Amino acid sequence: METIGVLTSGGDAPGMNAAVRAVVRKGIYEGLKVIGIRRGYAGMIESDFEVLERRSVADIVHRGGTVLGSARCEEFKTKEGRAEAVRQLKYAGIEGVVVIGGDGSFKGAQLLSEESDIGVIGIPGTIDNDIACTDTTIGFDTAMNTILDAINRIRDTATSHERTFVIEVMGRHSGFLALMSGLGGGAESILIPEVELDIDKVCQKLKDGYERGKLHSIILVAEGVGDNFETDRGLHESKAFILGEKISECTGLETRVTVLGHLQRGGAPTAQDRIMASRLGAAAVEYLLAGETNQMLGIVHDQVKPSSLLESLETEKEINQEILELANILSM
Ligand code: ADP
Ligand code: F6P
Repeated sequence: METIGVLTSGGDAPGMNAAVRAVVRKGIYEGLKVIGIRRGYAGMIESDFEVLERRSVADIVHRGGTVLGSARCEEFKTKEGRAEAVRQLKYAGIEGVVVIGGDGSFKGAQLLSEESDIGVIGIPGTIDNDIACTDTTIGFDTAMNTILDAINRIRDTATSHERTFVIEVMGRHSGFLALMSGLGGGAESILIPEVELDIDKVCQKLKDGYERGKLHSIILVAEGVGDNFETDRGLHESKAFILGEKISECTGLETRVTVLGHLQRGGAPTAQDRIMASRLGAAAVEYLLAGETNQMLGIVHDQVKPSSLLESLETEKEINQEILELANILSM
């Protein structure tokens, strides 16, 4: 193998740059030519390629976002689109690709690997942490810390005004961000898509808390809880606002809603995310050089662990019910 490519795809995540840097520098160290594929699979199809040198990835290990850019590409979901991508990769002499992204990107990576002889290794990069076969994903730790910072700030004003706050965090289909930052931030209730919403229970817990002398409360809700709905302005509005209204109706407590949104996706990656990204980026190069393909690399019990892309896609990453129960007990 002489030439490899690297791309970031799907929702960006802090630490993706550290992974790109590791792929480039480890690749060059091993004598490879490394090509950056810009804008994910869209750039693959359009041959948006750039040879990356050691200096090309200087000064990015600490930066959020992705210097390669990311995009969502419908064309890659078609066989023809992927065939065109393979043509472009071959034309550029790219024999192996490192795909840094979430489960959607992994679906594309898995198909690319099955439909061609290009080596494909996936690295899990998403703040959602919803990828199996790895303890966490790149970006998750940073996003949790961003949420904790927001909770701290909101708690200050919640205490001053004796208010209840509903804070919506990301997690289209998964509650990892809400669960773990809810435990770390001492949220009174944590609402996640994996557990059926029981609004009466939430209200009862709030009332009990206030009877015991609690003056403010934080309810952390993952965006995937309940269905989003269309407002008459045609915009998608968050479920958190409906929740806020319902809570204030049934408890009589003054309630405010904060949707953290995309600020959770940005910012400098934490030490944990940088270290994980650096290890996985370098390991991906080793796996490609060893002739491996159709694999994703995760970190399990502090060791780099390979799994087939298919296994990681077919395995549902389950939330830890014990953590949910613990968060509930500790916030009483
Ligand atoms: P993420 O990787 O963060 O989950 P997406 O779900 O948006 O983000 O997926 C990123 C890209 O991966 C998509 O824009 C598309 O190009 C590709 N992709 C997603 N699902 C598939 C699929 N079923 N088949 C082929 N490519 C896919
Ligand atoms: O990266 C995953 C995610 O953070 C989801 O939790 C969220 O729903 C989604 O990205 C939103 O991303 P975008 O605005 O880029 O579609």
